[in-house]
Amino acid sequence: MSKRVSLTQYLVEQQRVDGHIPSQLRLLLEVVARACKSIALAVNKGDLGGVLGTASSENVQGEVQKKLDIIANEVLIEANEWGGHLAAMASEEMEGIYLVPNRYPQGEYLLLFDPLDGSSNIDVNVSIGTIFSVLKKPDNAPGVTEQDFMQAGAKQVAAGYCVFGPQSTLVLTVGDGVAMFTLDREKGSFVLTREHVEIPPDTKEFAINMSNMRHWDEPVKRYVNECLEGKEGPRGKDFNMRWVASMVADVHRILTRGGIFMYPWDKRDPDKPGKLRLMYEANPMGWLIEQAGGMATDGRQRILDIQPTKLHQRVSVVLGSKNEVERVTQYHLEADKPAPSA
Ligand code: AHG
Ligand code: MN
Ligand code: MN
Repeated sequence: MSKRVSLTQYLVEQQRVDGHIPSQLRLLLEVVARACKSIALAVNKGDLGGVLGTASSENVQGEVQKKLDIIANEVLIEANEWGGHLAAMASEEMEGIYLVPNRYPQGEYLLLFDPLDGSSNIDVNVSIGTIFSVLKKPDNAPGVTEQDFMQAGAKQVAAGYCVFGPQSTLVLTVGDGVAMFTLDREKGSFVLTREHVEIPPDTKEFAINMSNMRHWDEPVKRYVNECLEGKEGPRGKDFNMRWVASMVADVHRILTRGGIFMYPWDKRDPDKPGKLRLMYEANPMGWLIEQAGGMATDGRQRILDIQPTKLHQRVSVVLGSKNEVERVTQYHLEADKPAPSA
């Protein structure tokens, strides 16, 4: 059997051989992976560990928090605050940024996370995950402010997620393609199981919450209707549909076998640009998808080019197989064109 490569070894090689990551970033990613391992263990214990069910609190988005949302958030903070590689953190579960306490050395990186993605699936034993994004603190700024986090996704220096499903798999990019690491529970370490992940440019599988169809904008309706028309319609082929309701699981399927994922703006709450959050959901997932040869837009522009103005900013998301995302984006741009005057 060929020799297995651990996450540690992969990161050391990225640092030493390929020069892609400085040692501080390598340490940071090792710590995030260690936190993901702890979260995986808590998830696996389920009812036996008393981790299922709802906590009696709401987060900044007004969502009722699950016990695991809070546990995962605490695990990530406790693991990362003392190592000296971070300046501050931001999370779906915290209103403001979390500064590294004064008693610890300050590093130059900023870590953002969705500690537990797919909260509605926790109690029903369906795949959930942790999503993370790493930015560098701007050089000139003394101290750290929320403003330091307001960087477009294109500025990320690392991004990834860990999906807790039948296997726990950590998926990572440091800008050199996408690699996947499976948690070996006996050894207690993540092992490289796929490298140079590539999303096929075409697909026959789409993912969207169809129950919202009546609220969508015309371009999204047009795209999905054409998929539903199958062989007899303008696309000339049948499509299949999947919706896990955990972005990590839907994105993991797309990185594995292709597909398109959409959570578009809709009329239910017209002032919100969408449901998903830009900085710790759309940006890290968008970069992973691009690094695997796919595409990620908000229906009109590249997600990674969006200049954030708020930590918990929401965004419309269309990502996955390149030709399908291009098509949906094209439908939006066509609909935006002013009608020719008579
Ligand atoms: P979170 O659990 O972090 O709040 O994220 C849930 C998100 C995302 O993972 C998923 O794609 C989407 O919400 C599901 O939304 P619906 O329940 O509206 O389908
Ligand atoms: Mn989420
Ligand atoms: Mn979450």
